[in-house]
Amino acid sequence: MAAHCASNCPTPPRDSPRFGEVPLPAVTPDLSDREFYQFSRLIHQHAGIQLSVQKKELVRARLTKILKARGVTSFADYYREVMADQSGLELVALLDAISTNQTSFWREAGHFIFLAQELLPGWRRQRRGPPAWKLWSAGCSSGEEPYTLAMTLLDTFPAEDLGKVRILASDLNTRVLAQARQGVYPLARLESLPGDWRRRYFQKGVQRWEGYARVKPEVRQMVEFFRLNFMEPFAFPEEFDVIFCRNVMIYFDRVHQEMLVNRFHHCLRPGGYFFIGHSESLCNIEHRFSYVKPTIYRK
Ligand SMILES: C[S@@+](CC[C@H](N)C(=O)[O-])C[C@H]1O[C@@H](n2cnc3c(N)ncnc32)[C@H](O)[C@@H]1O
Repeated sequence: MAAHCASNCPTPPRDSPRFGEVPLPAVTPDLSDREFYQFSRLIHQHAGIQLSVQKKELVRARLTKILKARGVTSFADYYREVMADQSGLELVALLDAISTNQTSFWREAGHFIFLAQELLPGWRRQRRGPPAWKLWSAGCSSGEEPYTLAMTLLDTFPAEDLGKVRILASDLNTRVLAQARQGVYPLARLESLPGDWRRRYFQKGVQRWEGYARVKPEVRQMVEFFRLNFMEPFAFPEEFDVIFCRNVMIYFDRVHQEMLVNRFHHCLRPGGYFFIGHSESLCNIEHRFSYVKPTIYRK
């Protein structure tokens, strides 16, 4: 893997600044209630993410990193910079810093087992021409979810049909999307994977990449990553067979959840499946899905 990673992989994490780097100021600025509400309104307006005042410390900690990196000394100054930036890049950086990206391989494994045991045998019997099956990991974070989808397909689907499968994976956060595209993970993150998947679908890093593994090219090439903010309009030329939107809508208010669920409904083909996270529910929102089992719905 060392050869692959020389140019386009992240540098392994390190603890202390290198010689010549500017040391970060030790003092972290205060975030007043007024400033917190300004930021939380802006974040809600642009990303749909709801932040109650209980999240003030979290917001302060996450934004402090940007302030330090830019050498800005107050939240008020930083807010003014974001508002004044015509390019929109400051807002993208703010949303990158604020979104929660927790994820893992084989997370909520029942969904992948359902896919392998209930859906894929039916797909195998259908003779579809390309483009055939389309899956979307909506809110994919650093890639563990769409790569688990790809590995599930590689594990169970006939090799001659794999070329007809497209897995799209989107996220708001540009930082996690860059990690996802590289597909490099600390070995400890692979421990949740079943059976011999670690050996079959990953290359172990050597030398400076000791302790890391990279998703093999045949898995990476099955997934197309792109940035998408669910608060902006979206449309696709073809309908999806499966949409995963797991552990994303918990951050939104009911109005945005309902809007998004209905847009996903529109993007699925009739009979297509919609998966949400185990701590989420469609109970309080109006939608047109049929219930299959907890967290699994069908158009
Ligand atoms: C907790 S992660 C879930 C990752 C994965 N689906 C899983 O269940 O493991 C939530 C993801 O939703 C993304 N997200 C939050 N708000 C979003 C928005 N408005 N549009 C698109 N993605 C968003 C975040 O950047 C984050 O990566």
